Amino acid sequence: MPTTVLEAEPQHVRAAPPHPDPYPWYGRLARERGFFRDDANNWWVAASAAAVREVLTSDVCLTRPMHERVPAGLRDGAAADIFSRLVRLRDDQARGPLKDVVTAAVRNIDLRQLATLTQARANELDAEIGLPFDAAKTTQFMFALPVQIVALLLGVPRERLADVMGWLGAYGAAAAATGTNIPVPTAEIIARGHQGAQALFDLLRNLKINDAERGPLLTALTNEGRRAGCDENDIVANAVGTMIQGYAAMASLIGLTLLALARRPELRAQVMADRKLLRPLIQEVCRFDPTTNSTFRFMARDGEIARHTLRQGEMIIVMLAAANRDPALNPEPDRFDIARADRKYLEFGAGPHACPADKLAPLIVEIALDHLLTRGVPFEKLEAALSYAPSGHIRTPLFNR
Ligand code: HEM
Repeated sequence: MPTTVLEAEPQHVRAAPPHPDPYPWYGRLARERGFFRDDANNWWVAASAAAVREVLTSDVCLTRPMHERVPAGLRDGAAADIFSRLVRLRDDQARGPLKDVVTAAVRNIDLRQLATLTQARANELDAEIGLPFDAAKTTQFMFALPVQIVALLLGVPRERLADVMGWLGAYGAAAAATGTNIPVPTAEIIARGHQGAQALFDLLRNLKINDAERGPLLTALTNEGRRAGCDENDIVANAVGTMIQGYAAMASLIGLTLLALARRPELRAQVMADRKLLRPLIQEVCRFDPTTNSTFRFMARDGEIARHTLRQGEMIIVMLAAANRDPALNPEPDRFDIARADRKYLEFGAGPHACPADKLAPLIVEIALDHLLTRGVPFEKLEAALSYAPSGHIRTPLFNR
């Protein structure tokens, strides 16, 4: 059969997340290439589970280049200030205590209260978005609910939620464009990113100093931050960071799980009848079709990774989604099986930068999916409406076509 353009392999790892099916290629990279240099793009690729783990746990591999804490195109503005303060993107001395503060605050959220809040907000969104959910409204819901829950946990008032989503989108577009060139950065994207970042920072700074309005997540960040002697602006920026980190990822995980169900009617019937199956289903999607396809690292100095010598400053694209398909991590990795024993996946990272929300985020996603299944999802229309958002690292299905 002739190969169509759509079926052609991705040209490189940063072109892969929006590809309709990058997984046969990812699997081959994991099994056959492991760790290799892509000269055409001037980066290294870690694709096997062993190489990915080695990079993520190596102290030679930093989240930013030593001499470029912030992408050059983003400099001089509020977006640069937030970017440079996020625990996710720093490896300096102040990061250690700050990471402990963020981890403790996120991990200590009461999951029962979280579930109640998520269910209540989902019901409110029914009225705001308008039932029944067609494909476009399903997309709207999957983006709105999870990030709004994190915002509410911080104390953002309901009437500011729509603004917050717009500001986060503007910041995210500017950070991605200047960091990866996807989309190509324009003066307008960058200016809107700085405006969004400033608005987010101002809102969170005001909430932080207002005992009556702060939500439990911001209260925990504030108290833990004070105890650890953290810089106040670092706390504000990382409060914004809790919304930045999960926004696209939680929406995408909802969408990718809906797609998994749309493609498997029998499984869908089982899950409709027994909602307890949602939890292992979401975990299998995190392994089989994860949203965080990759992350990246930079060499702090010359050093050896996976028996290759790398030079200071060189970039490594860390292929979490490829590693999930490495048979060394999971037997028969290309089989989708929600009953899989001893499932392993790297969707929430590993090592010092691992995600602190590996329990909180899947719970929000589970409640969102349960709600959508109850309200009714137009499963038969999702595939025809599907496109993937442009991104070098994140796989985000949109049902808007
Ligand atoms: C499905 C949802 C999510 C996924 C798949 C996800 C995935 C990840 C991954 C892969 C990393 C590590 C990146 C790297 O090592 O380069 C990470 C880091 C992080 N995530 Fe998440 N995340 C999700 C949701 C969230 C949410 C909701 C929050 C906050 C409430 C959050 C907070 C963080 C933070 C603070 C870091 C940085 C940790 C550090 O660098 O020390 N994430 N996440």
